[in-house]
Amino acid sequence: MDTAIVENSTKRYARAIEASKRVRWDIDKDVIRGRRFEMEQKWMPDGLGRMQGFAFATPAEKRFISQIQGRTYVNMFGMIERYIGAKMLEITRGHVLGDQTVVEALVRFTDEELKHQELFRRLEVMMAGGMPAGYRFLPDPDDVARAVLSKSTWAVLALTCHIEIFTLVHYRESIERDTELSELFKDVLLFHWKEESQHAILDELEWRREDATLSAAARDAAVNDLIVLVGAVDGILAIQAKEDAVYFRSHCGRQFSSGESKQIDAAMLEAYRWQYIVSGVQEPRFTTILGSLITEAQGARIAAALAPLLQ
Ligand SMILES: [Fe+2]
Ligand SMILES: [Fe+2]
Repeated sequence: MDTAIVENSTKRYARAIEASKRVRWDIDKDVIRGRRFEMEQKWMPDGLGRMQGFAFATPAEKRFISQIQGRTYVNMFGMIERYIGAKMLEITRGHVLGDQTVVEALVRFTDEELKHQELFRRLEVMMAGGMPAGYRFLPDPDDVARAVLSKSTWAVLALTCHIEIFTLVHYRESIERDTELSELFKDVLLFHWKEESQHAILDELEWRREDATLSAAARDAAVNDLIVLVGAVDGILAIQAKEDAVYFRSHCGRQFSSGESKQIDAAMLEAYRWQYIVSGVQEPRFTTILGSLITEAQGARIAAALAPLLQ
């Protein structure tokens, strides 16, 4: 890289450190503040939960669905952040004797993800207290982390950048005025996004740095890895959506026809695809970065792989 680019990127790492110090929050003092999750409230905002897909449900059932989705949300993030923290540690190691501003920015990043994992673990316990027994989060965070980390760094950083960018979309969905929505859940989305914004910047810097080291053939293979990773995420979502639909049906106190059951399954999967894939891959900030790194043909391959998920 030429000197101007290096200087410019050092400034961006320095700004990420500054912002990280400015927004830094505490799990108890800032986010939870002695509050609890109320069962009379919705947890997942309507837009993010794709509630239009559950048109058949009563208001109480919709509230229950928002709570199930909210609980899966904290479990999903607890899991995602396991692999992100591990990857960042590995990337940081490559910088240890280099630019110390970069090292500091990445160490803060990893530290924040460890804090987020703790937050999400605590939220899971709080949510479990109010919900009927039987909820299960099926994916194992360590198995998922091992599978993701077996792929090329370029692909892992692409997936990570996409995830950290969509936390902004998720926060935006909670801003809409909704008096039935849990203030605590809204704050979780807000505070998480505040620190994720710096992560998204660092992901982009590290992704571009990695990209610059790759041959055209290696990058092409990395695009395939990215497609495999998104497919694996979709596989996880399918399993958990099915599980959450079963949990909903067994605790909502009425029978559903087989047509309605299918509708519940489909709406749950659509909601999870929206939350963990579509809200990121459609975000212009992500598509712009990705588009600047790949060829048109590679872009078309990715688009073809995503097409069935976007329907
Ligand atoms: Fe996080
Ligand atoms: Fe993050």
